[in-house]
This record gives sequence, structure tokens and C-alpha cells, in this order.
Amino acid sequence: VTNHTIAPLYLDYLKTVFKGTQCDVVLLDDGEEYKNEESLFLIYDSLLKNKHHRDTTIVALGGGVIGDIAGFAASTYQRGVQFIQIPTTLLAQIDASVGGKTAINHPLGKNMIGSFYQPKAVVVDLNTLHTLPEREFRAGLAEMVKYALLEGKDFYIKVQTALANGLSADSTELPSLIAQCCQIKANYVEEDEKDIGKRALLNLGHTIGHALEAYSGYKTWLHGEAVAIGLNCIGILSCKLGLLEEKIQHEIKQMLINAGLPYQIPKSIDLNQLWNLMKLDKKILNNQLRFVVIEKPGVCYLNNAISEEFFKEALVTAIGGE
Ligand SMILES: NC(=O)c1ccc[n+]([C@@H]2O[C@H](COP(=O)([O-])OP(=O)(O)OC[C@H]3O[C@@H](n4cnc5c(N)ncnc54)[C@H](O)[C@@H]3O)[C@@H](O)[C@H]2O)c1
Repeated sequence: VTNHTIAPLYLDYLKTVFKGTQCDVVLLDDGEEYKNEESLFLIYDSLLKNKHHRDTTIVALGGGVIGDIAGFAASTYQRGVQFIQIPTTLLAQIDASVGGKTAINHPLGKNMIGSFYQPKAVVVDLNTLHTLPEREFRAGLAEMVKYALLEGKDFYIKVQTALANGLSADSTELPSLIAQCCQIKANYVEEDEKDIGKRALLNLGHTIGHALEAYSGYKTWLHGEAVAIGLNCIGILSCKLGLLEEKIQHEIKQMLINAGLPYQIPKSIDLNQLWNLMKLDKKILNNQLRFVVIEKPGVCYLNNAISEEFFKEALVTAIGGE
């Protein structure tokens, strides 16, 4: 399963691997708006028409959109067939392809229909990043900053230094950074596969990020860009709560700037509306908003004591730019 953008780049190469094996291709339209039931049924249609049985394997070749939808198809086709991820965006390589969350969107909400279903393998070919648009690469770096904040210690310094030196698809430190991000995510998922405890920390920066995406109708920012703004906001909130040193808060902002990511909430955004959108988040518990806050790199935890008033007051300094 791949899409019309990725197929011309990598499909022929991949098919050579399956020479002598029945290999049918499902080509989906490119974009988050196609992560829906129509695309899902195109996959089921092809599987049925081409007589794929329970011993088949679905291979996702693409970014997080392809991975999520192909994974959901694999988890449901004939009650579950094998699944392999070949992620081709930085975001999918360090985040979406690891951990077994699959989903399609519903018109009323993103990722609302899905399953937990682990791939048999995740194959990361770093060469694919050479064709990835620069903006998509940078969006992936936001998740790397998130892992740096969750992990702390040497990894925080390593990501900070790499970003200060200008991290690109050609950087020599990129392979080990990607591998470490996967390992960090795997550690969280191993402890809490079904997202009822510790895995919630992977949501660092995402509550605000998701609300910004929804606010703008998913048109202004890529997911990683909205997460970058969310991370900066959480840095500010954590600092205003008296948890995080101001110096580290500035470091977080600087890492995002060095990654070429947005970090400010545009002036046009109404914080009242943003708060209301956050209250729709599916991670909400007992009708109370929970944010992952930062005490220091490596020490992050859930906080459900941030009131609407505090949020709006604290985030005045996060507003700027268009
Ligand atoms: N399952 C999870 O745990 C998880 C985690 C994070 C995000 N996600 C999901 O992932 C999706 C976002 O993923 P994404 O950021 O990878 O976006 P994406 O899948 O839309 O890919 C971004 C763009 O890059 C193109 N592309 C991909 N690889 C390319 C390459 N090597 N060369 C050239 N173009 C390439 C794609 O066709 C697309 O246009 C969202 O739907 C999000 O919900 C899932």
C-alpha cells in the first residue's frame, strides 16, 4: 500500500524484493484527507479481488498516513494479517511506524477509528529521506525534540547540539538519532502498549498541537509544526508553574528555532477557542484537561491542575507573529 507520490520513487525498487511472490499494489491518493474509509475499502477490495488469504502480508510504503491506514487494514482484514512498515518520512521513521497505533479518520474526528496492532517489522531506509520535502523533514524534527525532552541526559544534549549544527538528511549523526528515538518510543510502548498509563507522556506538546491543527482546519501547519508550537507553549506553561528553569525554557525554544520550526501561536488565534478545542481531545480524563509538563529534560509528567485562566494568562508570551 502506497500513494501516487511515493510509488514513482520507490515502488519498482521494492517490487524487485518480492520477485517470484504474488505482489499486488494499492495506490491511494496522497493526503491526510484520504486517511478515510474509502481508502480503507480500496485496500480490502484489492485483497479480496486478488485472493489474498490469512497468510498474506500488507506492506506500508510511505509516511504516517499510509502506515496508519495500511496497519488498520492489516489488523482487520480476515481478523488480522501480517504487517510490515517501510516508513519514508522522518516523522514516520521516528514515531508513527513504531508502537502499533493504527487508524483512519472519521469526518467528526482524527484517528477516531483504529486499533493497536504491531507490525512484524519496521524497515527504515534512510535514503528515502533524500526525496522528502524539506518542510516535511523539519516537521519530523519536532518529534525528535519531544523525545529529547522526555529522555533528557545525553540524548537531550545530542539533539540540541545536532540541531544547533543544522541537522539534515545528510548529517552523519542522523542514523543514530533516528535509532535512539525509536528505542525511546519502544520503551514507552513496551511498558504501556494500550495507552492507559505511561504512554500518555508521548503526548508532550500534542494537546496544544492537535487543537491548533483542528483550529486551522488542518490547513496551516503540518502535524510536526503544530507540535513544535505546542512544545514551546508547554515550556512556557511549565516555567510559569515554577517547575522548569527559564534557561531550559529558552533552550527548548532555541532548539525549535534551530530546527526551522514555528514556535509561536499566531496573533489571529483566539485562546478561548483553542481551550474549547482542547477539551474535545480524546486523551481527556474525567472531563479534565491533562497536559504533559516538563520539570527538566528527562522529567516530564501529567498535570491536570492547569486552569483555563492560568493557561490563557501564561500563554500571552507565546503569542506572536502572523
Ligand atoms: N500511529 C502513530 O503512532 C502515529 C504517530 C504520529 C503520527 N501519525 C499519523 O501520521 C500521519 C502524518 O504522517 P507524515 O508526517 O509521515 O505525513 P504523510 O504520510 O502525509 O507524508 C507527508 C508527505 O510526504 C510525502 N512523502 C512521504 N515520503 C516521501 C519521500 N520519501 N519522498 C517524497 N515524498 C514523500 C507523502 O506522500 C506526503 O505528501 C498523520 O495521519 C498522523 O495522524 C501516527
